[in-house]
Amino acid sequence: MAGTDRQERKRIDDERNQKLKIIKKSNAKIFRQFYREKKRCVPADAYVTRMNDPGNILEIDNLNTYFYTDVGTVRAVNGVTIDIPSGKTVGIVGESGCGKSVTSLSILRLLQEPQGQIMQGALRLNTGGGEAVDLVKLPAKAMSSVRGRDISMIFQEPMTSLNPVITVGQQMDEVMRYHNDEKLSKRQISARSIAMLGTVGIANAEGVYKSYPQELSGGMRQRVVIALALLCNPKLIIADEPTTALDVTIQAQILELLRELKEKINASIMFITHDLGVIAETSDYVVVMYAGRVVEQGDAREVFHHPLHPYTIGLMESRPGGAAEAKRLYSIPGSVPNPIELPDHCYFRSRCEMSVAACRGRYPQAFALNSTHKVACYRYLLDQGGG
Ligand SMILES: Nc1ncnc2c1ncn2[C@@H]1O[C@H](COP(=O)(O)OP(=O)(O)OP(=O)(O)O)[C@@H](O)[C@H]1O
Ligand SMILES: [Mg+2]
Repeated sequence: MAGTDRQERKRIDDERNQKLKIIKKSNAKIFRQFYREKKRCVPADAYVTRMNDPGNILEIDNLNTYFYTDVGTVRAVNGVTIDIPSGKTVGIVGESGCGKSVTSLSILRLLQEPQGQIMQGALRLNTGGGEAVDLVKLPAKAMSSVRGRDISMIFQEPMTSLNPVITVGQQMDEVMRYHNDEKLSKRQISARSIAMLGTVGIANAEGVYKSYPQELSGGMRQRVVIALALLCNPKLIIADEPTTALDVTIQAQILELLRELKEKINASIMFITHDLGVIAETSDYVVVMYAGRVVEQGDAREVFHHPLHPYTIGLMESRPGGAAEAKRLYSIPGSVPNPIELPDHCYFRSRCEMSVAACRGRYPQAFALNSTHKVACYRYLLDQGGG
């Protein structure tokens, strides 16, 4: 009996090792191909393109970002399409692991290569007059001048973006020197850095300019990171959970600052958070992501008052204070599917309390209720005779 057990275990181990060997071989092939492509010179006509709508600053069009890991391919972002209109704030919301950060890292091409790769899609950045560049195909050198100048990012933990052994002032001046299109002198650069610290609500701007990051409080550091992000007048600011690492009162101050800045600067903001309340306070549009896909998007007020996708409805109910009469906080049953083995049908089906027979079919197409509100769910497709 013990012998049969041992044999069975050996068979399972052999099968698993064989599977891992195949994955390793296939990954090695993909990485070789990646480096070959990287060496190729990219002609301008490969990345110069036009915006679908010149009113947008960025168009994320069918973005697919995968990670080739030793245990299989993680489909982290799986056909995401989002428009970011000029001067507007778009909030991206979803549970942990749904692909919010990978979407933003893809935009800035900061993925951990060659494991992480954009496999398909376009990222059109408006360069003026409806002209655009596709960031997916942009050569690495041109991409590094897009970062910080056209698009900047505010990360969750300020110390990950600040160097602890360099003063705040030196770090700010360095960013401006790198993108010094206006040919500013050293004195003009430091004056602008100090002025920017004032803009983000730091009273003792000159003192902070000379300080090291660890000498500042968490809220102050996050203000410095926001000042850094604003230095070169970017067209788009990506804020990835900018308040999560801060305590509640500081969170409120930083949110207030971002709201104020929105009036002052003429930039679009992509605001990533898992907190629907934050989106309600900051965003014009909301995008709800689930397991690497957009399940619902639309005007923030409309989505808040009429959430359609069962996942959005669940998120609304699981907010503290969401269901006013509920005694206990609601939580969506089950968990996010394994991103290595995603099913062919709706990813939310196994957790959905509203599923219908049609949900056994293929992944639902997005259904547009109006020009902004879209939902990928069979309940609405069937209502409209689609599906
Ligand atoms: N370097 C990596 N290698 C392998 N898988 C990764 C890597 N980075 C992210 N992933 C996977 O991609 C998926 C999306 O991750 P992502 O960080 O975008 O989630 P998120 O929505 O930002 O979550 P959170 O709210 O926790 O920040 C997850 O399944 C994650 O495990
Ligand atoms: Mg994240």
